[in-house]
Amino acid sequence: MKVGGTAYCSIWLEPDGRSVGIIDQTALPHRFVTLTLTDLAGICHAIRSMQVRGAPLIGAAAAYGMALALKADSSDAALEHAAAQLLATRPTAVNLRWAVEALRRMLAAMPEAKRAEAAYFRAEQIAEEDIAINRAIGSHGLKLIRAALARKQGQGPVNILTHCNAGWLATVDWGTALAPIFAAQAACVPVHVWVDETRPRNQGAFLTAWELQAAGVPHTVIADNAGGHLMRGGQVDLCFVGTDRTTACGDVANKIGTYLKALAAKDNGVPFYVCLPSPTIDWTIEAGEEIPIEERAGSEVSHIAGLTENGDVVSVRLTPAGSPVANPAFDVTPARLVSGLVTERGVAEASREGLLVLFPERAGAAA
Ligand code: MRU
Repeated sequence: MKVGGTAYCSIWLEPDGRSVGIIDQTALPHRFVTLTLTDLAGICHAIRSMQVRGAPLIGAAAAYGMALALKADSSDAALEHAAAQLLATRPTAVNLRWAVEALRRMLAAMPEAKRAEAAYFRAEQIAEEDIAINRAIGSHGLKLIRAALARKQGQGPVNILTHCNAGWLATVDWGTALAPIFAAQAACVPVHVWVDETRPRNQGAFLTAWELQAAGVPHTVIADNAGGHLMRGGQVDLCFVGTDRTTACGDVANKIGTYLKALAAKDNGVPFYVCLPSPTIDWTIEAGEEIPIEERAGSEVSHIAGLTENGDVVSVRLTPAGSPVANPAFDVTPARLVSGLVTERGVAEASREGLLVLFPERAGAAA
């Protein structure tokens, strides 16, 4: 997508063919900063500190992290060390494990001298595949937006609520939940997006709003608690969210607060769609309760960062010093609340049977 007229992906291989470029997402929306990462430690730090974030992007970043590690040392021990370091960064998004395991398996079977080249090649492939997947999700999701417009007898805009940031910053390009919205914008289908601010880290207010503004998509940032009210008032036609891990039976882990939106959507008859690239499906588990939920620092809840009138970005305390805080970063929305899973192969019912219609090759995979 374009930033100030220049096309960017959220991660890229630098011209030296070795270093990895990223957009530092902790600086957005107030500053646009790019960083060059040259080693495994830099990638691990970027994932943990959320300079890069979003399930598909941390999968791609982890793949580049394996390549950077193998460039420095291609031994078996270095391979295992890199995989362990990356797997320890963030627990919920399965894309990270998927990418690390894919590279580990492939590289372990190769002579050491060939590993670094092969790792870079596969990391580039993963990034390119992600872009293609998201473009396809965009075109399947666009059909849902067109159908919503038809239900309104063409009286646009279609009002879409989204939570967190599942835009191009959270992937390599296009995004998952925002891909249909960007596709609608390109096709001149009128849309308006309700952007949940997404406390505590405000990925909606900081990142989704920034992306939509840059793309010229009409949007309104709302407090997280406003969605139910808007749905009751008939002001939401569709919900589109992303996911960090979806089980083989269609239970969906996504940013904390997603579950409450799905409950409100169900109660109000608002279709609730989850945009799901296939690497985000965890075929090894059935129940959402098995998904590890990341607990992040309490300071993300007790403090908030923002821009002062002087143009400085500062962090200020919200809670009384000494009040305990808890910060579960994700929740699970049960499949029964999900209207459909928008994958690169089409829209699936949120169930094992529904997913297997689109991914028949997974029949018989570990349940
Ligand atoms: O903690 P984050 O910002 O990495 O969480 C991101 C989300 O929850 C996204 O909705 C999810 O990764 C889907 S991204 C296309």
